[in-house]
Amino acid sequence: MKFLPQLFASNRAWSEGIRRKDPDFFTTLSRQQRPDYLWIGCSDSRVPANQIVGLLPGEIFVHRNIANVVVHTDLNCLSVAQFAVDVLKVRHIIVCGHYGCGGVTAALRGDRFGLVDNWLRHVQDVRDRYASLLDSVPAGDPRVDRLCELNVLEQALNVCETTIARDAWQRGQELHVHSWIYSLRDGLLRDLGMSVSSWDEVAPAHRKALSALDKSPATAKRNRPSHTRKSQT
Ligand code: CO
Repeated sequence: MKFLPQLFASNRAWSEGIRRKDPDFFTTLSRQQRPDYLWIGCSDSRVPANQIVGLLPGEIFVHRNIANVVVHTDLNCLSVAQFAVDVLKVRHIIVCGHYGCGGVTAALRGDRFGLVDNWLRHVQDVRDRYASLLDSVPAGDPRVDRLCELNVLEQALNVCETTIARDAWQRGQELHVHSWIYSLRDGLLRDLGMSVSSWDEVAPAHRKALSALDKSPATAKRNRPSHTRKSQT
């Protein structure tokens, strides 16, 4: 093997470990997948969906991009959501951000990295929409983390406003949209409180979660990792 033999070795060990516990695991899984969850999260290497919630292959459908953004014209994200809801019939869509997100940090500061700046423009829209709320939080890490939270709520709102979620609700399909945030510092998830199970709940749930954020202290101190990696997204 010419390249990355350590990854193939580790893959063999992983596969053997799973088959030792359940010899039919991969055979059964190869026939079909039936995940209950769609995860929309950040591409950051420190926020791997399956591991964080302790789920095995086959249990969670995943879409990740920089800063967990849901754009109404992003065919990639929309196709994942449409397939997950219409075909796989997932019952939960989880939008999960994370504190200390490099994409959110760059968006807040207006840093320039190249093409990705255009993608992060969507997060800057969130920044600009909630400028007064952000101004009430101390500059620096606390403000970054508040924007991480606001971004999750905004992207969860975007999920709810897709034709995919609205059509599912209209035809009476069970679908719950959740807004979570993950702390790199302790590996724990926190529910931001916007949980929606029907179209009528969307606006009030979003308002309520926003107002809860406004009243809660800035979280950076407790959630920020003690070191900052250059590669964070
Ligand atoms: Co990130």
